[in-house]
Amino acid sequence: MALRKIREAGDPVLEKKCRPVEEMTPRIRELIGDMLDTMYEAMGVGLAAPQVGILKRIVVIDIGEGPLVMINPQIVKTEGEQTGDEGCLSIPGMAGQVTRPNYVKAVYLTEEMEEAEIEGTELLARAICHECDHLDGIMYTQHVEGELHRVEYEEEEE
Ligand code: NI
Repeated sequence: MALRKIREAGDPVLEKKCRPVEEMTPRIRELIGDMLDTMYEAMGVGLAAPQVGILKRIVVIDIGEGPLVMINPQIVKTEGEQTGDEGCLSIPGMAGQVTRPNYVKAVYLTEEMEEAEIEGTELLARAICHECDHLDGIMYTQHVEGELHRVEYEEEEE
């Protein structure tokens, strides 16, 4: 596995619609491993394939409960609302207020291309919405209320 370069806002690849994955291949397995490595290295909670320049419907998420790999994810149900700060590895050091559903149910394919579903609330619901948006070329800045603001990294405090 290897780290991949994270594309930053302004890169046209982040504004394109991604294609569904039709079959698992060694290259896609490698891509998923690299996406996880890249997300952990950057200390993110989620990463979508277009953020590493690949226009495929694949996202990885880890909100601290272990890795979740979603292929061709689709949000099938949402409930409630949450408003809070959101950031993106493609816009490093910045965050902004975004309102998302507080509950999300999504269906997707696993790495074995088996159908699965997940329900999430709070941060997981937010992460699923954010990453699925990437697959349609949508950045969180399109949903931001007010201005983006700088975020301090923990190691820079004090
Ligand atoms: Ni993002």
